[in-house]
Amino acid sequence: MNILIIGGGGREHTIAWKLLQSPNCGKLFVAPGNAGTHEIAVNLELGVNDFDGIKEAVLNNEIQMVIVGPEDPLVQGIHDFFLEDEQLKNIIVVGPQKAAATLEGSKEFAKEFMKAHNIPTAKYDSFTSETVEEGCNFLETMKPPYVLKADGLAAGKGVLILEDIDEAKDELRQMLVGQKFGAASQKVVIEEFLDGIELSCFVLTDGKNHLTLPMAKDYKRIGEGDTGLNTGGMGAISPVPFASDEFIKKIEERIIKPTMDGFQKSNLPFKGFVFIGLIKVGNDPMVIEYNVRMGDPETEVVFPRVKNDWVELFKAIGSQTLDQHELEIDPRSATTIMAVSGGYPEAYQKGKTITGIDSVDGSVVFHAGTKVVSKEVKTSGGRVLAVTSCGKDHKEALSKSYESLEKIDFEGMYYRKDLGFDL
Ligand code: AMP
Ligand code: GLY
Repeated sequence: MNILIIGGGGREHTIAWKLLQSPNCGKLFVAPGNAGTHEIAVNLELGVNDFDGIKEAVLNNEIQMVIVGPEDPLVQGIHDFFLEDEQLKNIIVVGPQKAAATLEGSKEFAKEFMKAHNIPTAKYDSFTSETVEEGCNFLETMKPPYVLKADGLAAGKGVLILEDIDEAKDELRQMLVGQKFGAASQKVVIEEFLDGIELSCFVLTDGKNHLTLPMAKDYKRIGEGDTGLNTGGMGAISPVPFASDEFIKKIEERIIKPTMDGFQKSNLPFKGFVFIGLIKVGNDPMVIEYNVRMGDPETEVVFPRVKNDWVELFKAIGSQTLDQHELEIDPRSATTIMAVSGGYPEAYQKGKTITGIDSVDGSVVFHAGTKVVSKEVKTSGGRVLAVTSCGKDHKEALSKSYESLEKIDFEGMYYRKDLGFDL
């Protein structure tokens, strides 16, 4: 079966690497891909939102399955685009339809969904430019820190957590009236601050059945000790040591099951990955957010631990027969460390030559922001490489990744040296 993966980051390189381990994977395409996918698959020079271009590529290359990596094309309705097209409607698309992708596309929609289905989350209210003064009054009723969230997609930058009430009011006005995040902040959700430790939970669903993938923990801040600006993710660990069997049972009963039932009751067609951002408050899981795709860099530690034939799992999503499959999980720990361009997540330089990847052994190097330029692998993004290793525990796995990173170099390379510090 010929397969297309949409996206071009570490997540997509990892999915490609995994799919190629299946005897049932035919020709594999990635759009647009990176230098890593260029080595193992065929990159197509297409934007992730270029639906017409994607259609042409699918028909020309006899592609029968499309895995959508990032949220943007899902929120734009790529799955619906396939279903509504006579020539594309029988192709398996992994990723929810637009109505369900709104769980990531609108924070207010996600909060309403959780409220309707009794899923534990922070208390909230939402406001527009017309109700900005009510929003300020609402802030007065809350305790600091104040959590303000732009309703729409804002590339991971739309959440502000502020200690000072006047600053919170000022930011609220800038978001709603000053359009700080453009259209994404036409609406703002204000919510209660939850104090605890975060983890990421991933569920694979065919719309009827589901399988819960291994939990992971992502390190979001640029600086050691979880300080500094938020990034797309600086590394990840799976399994999560503090997620005991008992805690995972609570997640399954209180969150995953009502979420799956909620999809049915609210008529949200979902075939794909549900990424539930969780926080452990005391001993209880609560939902911070839904995403409608795999996480990055969580994919780089979750996929290596799942031993199943992923072509078969994805086919089962198409035929809604996921109940006929059981996950086979590698009990070892997997860790990934992200090497980023100096300056990231603010301005950084691109086009730096990367050396040493070939001398790494004992780890797998997944490419994120890389590109082949005149036969050399160069940096082309903020997050450049994710170095994944397995070990008997996360410490052993981390030390292998750190050893591998010593061999890799590009000008301005930076990575966090303290992953797992909080475990
Ligand atoms: P989100 O884009 O919703 O994942 O928010 C980004 C980050 O902000 C999360 O990963 C949390 O670290 C933090 N955050 C969001 N909502 C809350 C909340 N209600 N309480 C505490 N931290 C939060
Ligand atoms: N690692 C967080 C995300 O993919 O959004």
